[in-house]
This record gives sequence, structure tokens and C-alpha cells, in this order.
Amino acid sequence: MTEQQRVHPVRGDFAANAWADKETYQSMYQQSVDDPETFWGEQAKRLEWTKTPTKIKHTVFDTHNVDIRWFEDGELNACANCLDRHLDKRGDQPAIIWEGDDPDQSKTLTYRQLHEQTCQLANTFKALGVGKGDVVTLYMPMIPEAAMAMLACARIGAIHSVVFGGFSPDALAQRIVDAESKLVITADESVRGGKQVPLKDNVDAALTRKGTDVVANVLVVKRTGGEIEWHDGRDLWYHEQVDQQSADCPAEPMNAEDPLFILYTSGSTGAPKGLKHTTGGYLLHAAMTHQYVFDYQDGEVYWCSADVGWVTGHSYIVYGPLANGATTLMFEGVPSYPSHGRLGEIIDKHNVAILYTSPTAIRALMAHGDDVMDSSRRDSLRVLGSVGEPINPEAWEWFYRVIGNSTCPIVDTWWQTETGGIMITPLPGATDLKPGSATLPFFGVQPALVSNEGKILEGATDGNLVILDSWPGQARSIWKNHERFVQTYFSAYPGMYFTGDGCRRDEDGYYWITGRVDDVINVSGHRMGTAEIESSLVAHEAVAEAAVVGYPHDVKGQGIYIYVTLKDDYEPSEELRKELVQWVRKDIGPIASPDVIQWSPSLPKTRSGKIMRRILRKIAANETEGLGDTSTLADPSVVDDLIENRANR
Ligand code: PRX
Repeated sequence: MTEQQRVHPVRGDFAANAWADKETYQSMYQQSVDDPETFWGEQAKRLEWTKTPTKIKHTVFDTHNVDIRWFEDGELNACANCLDRHLDKRGDQPAIIWEGDDPDQSKTLTYRQLHEQTCQLANTFKALGVGKGDVVTLYMPMIPEAAMAMLACARIGAIHSVVFGGFSPDALAQRIVDAESKLVITADESVRGGKQVPLKDNVDAALTRKGTDVVANVLVVKRTGGEIEWHDGRDLWYHEQVDQQSADCPAEPMNAEDPLFILYTSGSTGAPKGLKHTTGGYLLHAAMTHQYVFDYQDGEVYWCSADVGWVTGHSYIVYGPLANGATTLMFEGVPSYPSHGRLGEIIDKHNVAILYTSPTAIRALMAHGDDVMDSSRRDSLRVLGSVGEPINPEAWEWFYRVIGNSTCPIVDTWWQTETGGIMITPLPGATDLKPGSATLPFFGVQPALVSNEGKILEGATDGNLVILDSWPGQARSIWKNHERFVQTYFSAYPGMYFTGDGCRRDEDGYYWITGRVDDVINVSGHRMGTAEIESSLVAHEAVAEAAVVGYPHDVKGQGIYIYVTLKDDYEPSEELRKELVQWVRKDIGPIASPDVIQWSPSLPKTRSGKIMRRILRKIAANETEGLGDTSTLADPSVVDDLIENRANR
């Protein structure tokens, strides 16, 4: 039996106690697509509305008029839904369990404490002149203050824009300028794997860049007490400000379609896009998926190991779990510190029932052998989840057998920053699992596969993954650029949302995501535009031209492979190679660190000057047979040189 045919059927005892078994999934799914108005109108009741919506769905995927509205006459507040409404029943229940980078540091915040501190922070924002519709940028470590800052924005109707703490000052500045953010929240330093990252220094550097004078204040959490510079009048200590404020801050009633946050993500071209997510539909999608996909049961400790800087952290550390009154674990560090047993030790220490992590983290542990998990028992685990990139069947089986002690279903969840929440996924009590497949669509999600010409393909086939109709968590637009939104997602296949992913559907209707079909690469689950890395490289004085492609990497899923053509006055050298690696790290951030640089005197181009990436991808993958038709190249001999000098063999 090949790996792909191996099936793990739903366990009967699991199905009996789960939120959804096979029949429930099927009947709910059917209703969700046959009668979305009734289905989502009913589901909306899981949130607390200050004005109940009567208009449920108004969505148009027409290329000339993409218009997406859910619950458009309803009013609610996302923060009140995540905190206030739980106070009566769960005021003393842990809302956030924080585990520090240092295993001796952890703390718990109850719903009451989180509510109180979030209200104080919301009042701080108001005192600083931040109100409804203003954008607040977060550049934070993985500490509870990050969640509080998101919730405090939501409470007063401000819009948060979280920038991952691993991005460079330039990348941060770019996002601050695009969002016209008045306030930045950061910490003196973050700590990961025993090392300090100078967040405040990075903010200082970012704020010297053009256009950042929109920022009036920087609020600084004292995380390490490390040395930082101080700009009087602009910089404020978080604790000093918050301590002065009352914990009474009424939640602002928001229209369901008011923006909750923007989150930047990379596309195949141009600068990162600020995806706009709104309040009602997003929160409903995050909450509902969190309950059904992880089969969350009252009182359980749930751990999503993502960073709040990514959409996974937004939906599945903060909004989904808190909207459900769950206990969410937030981990500051990395799974390899102080030892490779850390992940399991955290699970035992906090009695974690549900672990949601990435294929990269699993493969990195797997590389150390089964005994990396010997320091823990992990018998509190009930459900495992995977996200961010395709999980290979070997890593799936290892996750199942070694981390999950062969007792926990694995939910391989496919979704995107644009989708707001999980889209294609097993439900642990309802779906027979096939390692490597994200399986079946969640409620309300209508996937389809189309040919390059846009024809909908039926049955078992490969194709481009599209979604035929809207779902509540869908991003509504790109910040200040609706035209780009329409162009990026709705122009390739008119009338459909194009995901950018390739996919296979098998004879059981299961979906197998095969990876991006555009110029986006996915390195350790971090999504990057090859064009962004290329434009960074050509800004270096030695570089005439650069082409970036992904190539298969054992741990990271994809690695970054760069072809560089130097200017005439420059010679390839080890020193220059290192310099270019540092250049990109500094320009974009360590996540964009090049793995391989191949010096290439010229690049394969068509006669019209277009680089043929298909060929570069194959050479980078060491697949030099069957390069396809190279006759359209201006100079086919370029390819021979690239093959001969390829760096990955
Ligand atoms: O290519 C798909 C991959 O990650 C992309 C979305 O990246 P991002 O917006 O950063 O969001 C990541 C977390 C939701 C997708 O277009 N991807 C995500 N999940 C999976 C996946 N590929 C395969 N299997 C998955 N489960």
C-alpha cells in the first residue's frame, strides 16, 4: 500500500463524543451550501450581537463588482464577544496560559484578569487619541500583551495591523506607512531560544524611514529590561500608561462589516498586501472552526504554536478560542529550546489536549529521532492539527505515532490569510483521515478545481483550486486598494475566488493541496513573494539581475534558491555570497534568508525578455531531465550552463 492510500478511519468512541460525526457533518454541510442564509443566520447566534443581523449574505464575485458583506445590518463587538460575555460563567477560568521562552517562566491570566487589563489598555489608547477606524501597528513578542493589544483595539473600534516580530525595520516601515498607523506597540526586546531580538531598536530604525511621521506614539512593553534608546514625547512605557487607567471601558458597538484588522501578506507581485478583515463574519468563522475542527470541549487546554504575527495566531490563538471561552496557550519560545523535548514538556506541564502546529516544526523534531519525545508522556493530548504548508505522509505518520502516541486524530487544515479561517479540513469525529490530504471542505466552503483555461473539472483530477462562493471569514478587500483585490483574486477565473494553490482531488472527493502555482514560495510555512526577494537583491550594487525560486527542502518544505547575475565589475566569491545572504536578511528579515545562491552569467529568457521560471524551478529541484520546450528561449545554451553549475545535487 502506498503512503497515499493509507487511511485512518474515525474512531467510534471519538465520533460518539465529538461535536460532529459523519452524519452531522454531511447534513450541516449540505444545508450550508443549499441554504446559506438559514444556515449562517442560525450559526450567527453563537455570537453576542448588540443588534441582531437580519440581512445575512450579500456577496458578489463579479469581476466588475466584487462586493462581500455578511450580517451587514448586525452590530457587535469582537472584544466583548471574546471577554465580557464569559465573565459570569468563566471569570476565574484561565483564558491565556503563557509559557515563556525560559521554561521556568509561565503565568496564567483568567478571563477576569484579561478583561480588566484589556480595558485599561483600551482606555490608554483613547487617552492617546486613538479611536474608531484608526490603525494601530503591533510589533510584539509572543506575550499576553500582544493578545490584549489586539482585543483592546477591537474594543474601541481601532483596527490592528500585526507585523511579525521577525520582519526587518524596512518591512515594518513599509507596513506602517501603508496603513497610516498612528500608534505602534512593541517591547524592548523579545526572547526566542535564549536570544534577544531588539524589537524597540527595530522600531526606532523603522521610524526614520520616509512617511513614518504619521506615528505619534510608541508604546513599549518592558519584557527584558534590556537597554534601549528613548525618544521623549514619542515613546511611552506600556506599564506606566496602563496603570493610570481605569478598568471600565465600554465596548464600542461595531457594524458587522467594520474592519477588525488588516494583515499584510505576500503575493506574486508588488508590495505586501494589507488584507482587510471585518468583524462579524470573521469572528463567526474563527469561533465556529475552532470548535468543530479541533472538537474543542469545555475546559480543555488548547495550544496553537503559531506566532500572533501570522493569520493563524489571529484566528486560532486569539479570536477563535477566546470567542469560545477556551483556554488558549501562548508560547514565547521555540520547540528546540532549551532542548528538543520542549514541545512535549509543555504539553505535560499544562495538560494540553489539542496541539495545532506546523509541518516544519514536526519535520525538525523528526530529524532528531523518536527519542526526542522521551522526556514527556503527552497523554493529555486528544487532537492534533497541522497548518501552513503541505504535510508529507512521513511527517504525518510521525506526528501521529510519536507525538500523539497513536491515539489522536490529526486535522490537516488548509486555509490562507485571505480566507480568515480554516477552509478544507477533517473534523476529528467525522472524517476518515488520509495522511497528506486536507480532506473535505468546512461548512459553507465550495471548492472546485479548474483548468488553466478556467473550465471546472469534475471527478478525480488535478487543477487550480478556486472557491465558488463567499464564506463569512473571507477578506473583504486589500487595504486602500480594492482594484488590486479584484485583480489578484477574481480576474484569473471570473466569478470565482482563486486561491493561488494547485490541488488534486481523489476518487473519494478528498483534496490534496500540492502547493502554490504562482510566484509565491512557502518556506517553513512563511509565505513570501519571490518578487520581493528579487527586488531586494537588485538593490545591491553588485547585482545586475536575480531570479528567486523555491526548491524542495527536507525540513522547511521549500528553501530559497537564487540565481544571481553580477554586474560586469564584480566576480563571484564566497564573501559576496555571504554578503548577499546578509543583505536579504537585513532587508526583509531572517525568514527570507537565502539557502542557495547560484552565480549565473545569464538567465533563460524568452525572446520577449521574460524569465522562464519553470526551467529555473526544475534546475533548482535538481530535475534536469525533461525541462520541456526550451526552443522559445532567446539563447537555449544558457540552460546548459545553469545545469552544469547547479548548486543542489
Ligand atoms: O499554499 C497554501 C499554504 O499556505 C498558503 C497560505 O499562506 P498564509 O496566507 O501565510 O496562511 C498560512 C496559514 C493559514 C496557502 O495558499 N497552506 C496553508 N495550509 C496548508 C497549505 N498547504 C497545504 N496544506 C495545508 N494544510
